[in-house]
Amino acid sequence: MVHDWATRMQFSTVERTKFVTAASELGRNALVHGGGGVMVIAELQRDGRTGLRLEFQDQGPGIPDIERAMTDGFTTAKSMGLGLGGARRLANEFIIESQAGQGTKVTIIQWKRR
Ligand SMILES: Nc1ncnc2c1ncn2[C@@H]1O[C@H](COP(=O)(O)OP(=O)(O)OP(=O)(O)O)[C@@H](O)[C@H]1O
Ligand SMILES: [Mg+2]
Repeated sequence: MVHDWATRMQFSTVERTKFVTAASELGRNALVHGGGGVMVIAELQRDGRTGLRLEFQDQGPGIPDIERAMTDGFTTAKSMGLGLGGARRLANEFIIESQAGQGTKVTIIQWKRR
């Protein structure tokens, strides 16, 4: 679905692949760690640029220490611990909001190159 939007909006193959990869990591986190959630997708216009924004929100346990969770190799699931750091590097903008007991919301934006 993200792939379809990015294709319709004429992102380059590289930009699309990066964004789809970031999205799949965040979707997987919402499922595995957050117990499921919702994704909101929106097309943006800002300063004459076109972008694609995704919000992943869950009502799971939340993240008590975001900085630690962002560190490559940190995992509470005996996995690789690369999803959050990878998503931050792959997307143009990355915003994470979470508190223990409050669920988690991660927003990523990709801008089309001019
Ligand atoms: N939506 C979420 N809700 C609660 N905790 C989360 C959520 N997303 C990430 N975390 C916490 O942050 C840690 C790091 O996440 P990250 O995606 O980097 O690694 P991982 O999911 O453990 O492994 P990988 O993504 O490499 O398979 C997770 O192990 C988990 O403790
Ligand atoms: Mg992950």
